Amino acid sequence: MLSRARLAVLVSGGGTNLQALIDAQRAGVLHSGEIVLVVSNNPSAYALQRAAAAGIPARTITRRECGSEAAFEAALLAALEEHGVDLVILAGFMSILSADFTARYERRILNVHPSLIPSFCGKGMYGLRVHEAALAYGVKVTGATVHFVNEIPDGGQILLQKAVPVEPGDTPEILQRRVMEQAEWLLLPQAAELVSAEIVKEKHNDGLS
Ligand code: GAR
Repeated sequence: MLSRARLAVLVSGGGTNLQALIDAQRAGVLHSGEIVLVVSNNPSAYALQRAAAAGIPARTITRRECGSEAAFEAALLAALEEHGVDLVILAGFMSILSADFTARYERRILNVHPSLIPSFCGKGMYGLRVHEAALAYGVKVTGATVHFVNEIPDGGQILLQKAVPVEPGDTPEILQRRVMEQAEWLLLPQAAELVSAEIVKEKHNDGLS
């Protein structure tokens, strides 16, 4: 049997996207990859409880404890290397990674963003703020995007996108939930499977050469 890609999921908050990945793994939708590590930069993230409930090793690594940006990324890198991680998935990870870091994992870091990039994205656009901005602008369609992560915040190559309607009377919270249910929780596992399958193929070919 071909080995599976080793996935790390980076989180900061509720972790519903992490849960979608865990559920997809259980359901076999995500079968070419296996979540081997969850890392949170927030010690009180509910996502950590989801990892524990699923029996997935989890770590908290904070900038504050590490003392600097560079030390934080060094600790993160060490954890990823220790677990032999092939693919890093940012699932509600509210922190921007440096160019040095992203260059080490070229086309091997995925992010889910709750809008149709290039709308409502970039530095400072995350979580509820994205939906507040979409409503303030008055767009009638929004959605979610899964993209590769490079040195430009939300600027890496787009892998998958899905549109979601904005309905009259939407609040940022209602819109956020609809975008999660109709787009994020479907797209992120699909994207994880796509890239995991590519990694498995690559490993198999390396083994043959
Ligand atoms: C999700 O909507 C995700 O797309 C967004 O934060 C939420 C996290 O929810 N991420 C960003 O805005 C990143 N720029 P979750 O913790 O329940 O998965």
